[in-house]
Amino acid sequence: MHQRKKKEPSSLSTSQDPPMPANLIKSVTRFPPCFKSLLLIFSLLLNLYLLGNLWYTFAPPPPIISRLAASTTTRRHIVFAIASSSLSWPRREPYVRLWYSPNTTRAFAFLDRPVSNASSSPDMPPMVVSADTSKFPYTFKGGLRSAIRVARVVKEVVDRNESNVRWFVFGDDDTVFFVDNLVNTLSKYDHEKWFYIGSNSECYEQNVKNSFDMAFGGGGFAISHSLARVLARVLDSCLTRYPHLYGSDARIYSCLAELGVGLTHEPGFHQVNK
Ligand SMILES: *[C@@H]1O[C@H](CO)[C@@H](O)[C@H](O)[C@H]1NC(C)=O
Ligand SMILES: *[C@@H]1O[C@H](CO)[C@@H](O)[C@H](O)[C@H]1NC(C)=O
Ligand SMILES: *[C@@H]1O[C@H](CO)[C@@H](O)[C@H](O)[C@H]1NC(C)=O
Repeated sequence: MHQRKKKEPSSLSTSQDPPMPANLIKSVTRFPPCFKSLLLIFSLLLNLYLLGNLWYTFAPPPPIISRLAASTTTRRHIVFAIASSSLSWPRREPYVRLWYSPNTTRAFAFLDRPVSNASSSPDMPPMVVSADTSKFPYTFKGGLRSAIRVARVVKEVVDRNESNVRWFVFGDDDTVFFVDNLVNTLSKYDHEKWFYIGSNSECYEQNVKNSFDMAFGGGGFAISHSLARVLARVLDSCLTRYPHLYGSDARIYSCLAELGVGLTHEPGFHQVNK
């Protein structure tokens, strides 16, 4: 938003220097008066038109949210899907407790296997055991097959048919969310439109390796419910067609690229690669 505002004056300057009408009037003084007044009217109209353009340029940009202004996005509109594993989940409890509160946040943790140990805790998100992904190919040498399961969290959380969801937010089990900040940020966008919101890595090499326009799950990213529903329908086919990619983020990114959706950068999402 800020960038767009900054750019506007430069596009303005081209329409701001029209000495053209004045020149025109001078050079036609030898024509009959009736023609002169016609020209005068024409130049007046031209000026009005340019002024109108100017006003448009200065006018505030149309809000991203139009008809939704009446109903603001709240914590309850966001469903968090946390990618974890039976090994790491018990150890990540302290991180999750920093942002999750059962009464106001909605979240699910997706694990490869059930953890009997931690399941009893009522102030931790409910655990969901991911479906079997052994039928999907994985061909990245030295990579981890779990990338498929983690990418599929997007589909699995959507397929739960949770009600009244505006945004699905994805993260790892050591991702710490500032939920109210996140609500404020997402409120700026229309969840009925297709949005993929996040940020690239703060590590240059990671961006080169993956993309400067790919969201990194470690820093969390958000997908509007309307996009998530479409993505969930096609994700399995993408997983089959992109077995050569390394991680889960790239798998989601490849599928979104096929849908023609680019990343909306929000610098509040931080991915740090150690
Ligand atoms: C329960 O979790 C703790 C870590 O929180 C671990 O040390 C312990 O071995 C676990 N017990 C079982 C039975 O899995
Ligand atoms: C959550 O809600 C339950 C039942 O409404 C209540 O007993 C509990 O104190 C609440 N917890 C917090 C942290 O607000
Ligand atoms: C979600 O809805 C779809 C279609 O209405 C249905 O096939 C599916 O079983 C539902 N899933 C759950 C978990 O209820």
